[in-house]
Amino acid sequence: MDKFVVRGGNPLLGTIKVSGAKNSALPCMAAAILTADEVILENIPQVRDIETERKLLESMGAEVELGYGRAQHRTSIKCAVLSDPVAKYEIVKTMRASSLVLGPLIARTGIARVAMPGGCAIGGRPIDLHIAALEKMGATITYDHGYLEARTDRLKGAHIVFDKITVTGTEDILMAATLAEGETILENCAREPEVTDLAALLIAMGAKIEGAGTSTIKIQGASSLHGARYRINPDRIEAGTFLIAGAITGGDLNIDCCDPTHLGSIIAKLEQAGVRLDIGTDSIRVRSEGSKTEGGLKAVDVTTEEYPGFPTDMQAQYMAFSTQCEGTSTITENIFENRFMHVNELIRMGANITVSGRTATVRGKSPLQSAAVMCSDLRASAALVLAAMIADGESILDRVYHMDRGYERLEEKLRGVGAQIRRMGDVFGKR
Ligand code: UD1
Repeated sequence: MDKFVVRGGNPLLGTIKVSGAKNSALPCMAAAILTADEVILENIPQVRDIETERKLLESMGAEVELGYGRAQHRTSIKCAVLSDPVAKYEIVKTMRASSLVLGPLIARTGIARVAMPGGCAIGGRPIDLHIAALEKMGATITYDHGYLEARTDRLKGAHIVFDKITVTGTEDILMAATLAEGETILENCAREPEVTDLAALLIAMGAKIEGAGTSTIKIQGASSLHGARYRINPDRIEAGTFLIAGAITGGDLNIDCCDPTHLGSIIAKLEQAGVRLDIGTDSIRVRSEGSKTEGGLKAVDVTTEEYPGFPTDMQAQYMAFSTQCEGTSTITENIFENRFMHVNELIRMGANITVSGRTATVRGKSPLQSAAVMCSDLRASAALVLAAMIADGESILDRVYHMDRGYERLEEKLRGVGAQIRRMGDVFGKR
């Protein structure tokens, strides 16, 4: 199993580039199910979850060519025939976002068999809201042997109010509605930039969609969609992770190819803490002069919320940052019930953190020490890399396959701006 070896102490200096957003790329790849034509996606990140989705689509009969190394990481997907409209458990169990194929599969073929996702490390993560919406659109749902089967002659437009805001739920039903008969109105939708990204691709494929990026989306169903070419937006969570990397190491880092308009809540918190940011149109320069002055960085509280609030996917990284702020920060996790698994590992590195229910209290500033630590999920792994980059001595991070699910060649990118980080074993060589 691959490990990262990280020696702390170097400020990050120079320019680091942000890749395409994994959480946009996943629904956009699923959207290719909606048409028999070729869909070309550019700026697809080279991460494990994308590889998993390729396998998922291919197992259904799609032709997928992941064009890494080609200009723009250009990827082509053609679902001319979907001979086996099944998302198998072997694939779903490794990636919950596999349930994103449910909506487009039933809309295109009238049948979808999808393994029910089990729990995952950060909480239960059910898909009941996806299912309730499809039932409202006329699908019949049955369950057998751990699988959900959805059937219909043709989905019908409906008025759906999500009980709770769900990102992939909004995306799944948005895709389903593009081929439904008549109008669908979705209320209490997720407003994440990834939903807007998906809607832009669907519109390029001929779908009629209004309101993506707001809490109400209207879709006029069509009888078919056509192929399109689309460029995936930059990954705001990768960009946010790099912002913290620059700030925490006392560096001077230019984060390039990002979209600062998607980073509002993260920028606001870092500025309040005393991090200096120069914001351009597609780049941000981060300088953490605050950490070197008398008062240092200041503790600032954070509560995770749906977009445009502070993202749960940045909570772990922000906690690593908080350990370097003077004073007490409270960090409240509102989206997932069990997303504090990085806490014990940070404590082992010398952080002062206590947890009560959904709130973690971080008392800083704590000097961090190197340690052997275990990555428990994607964003927890990023938090441990951040901590290790400022710890004294050499840390060993185990189970970095979690990191490979969503960060493109993280160690190479960080090494390019001065971090001392290397991988033991070559994950891409083992595929
Ligand atoms: C997506 C992101 C993930 C991010 C999360 C929240 C992708 C591939 N993943 O996950 O990185 O952390 O949004 O921003 O885009 N829920 C239900 N029933 C449902 C669906 C969700 O109760 O049918 C609950 C979940 O358990 C959770 C909350 O709603 O507590 C939000 O989950 P959701 O927005 O659906 O997360 P994902 O779409 O799985």
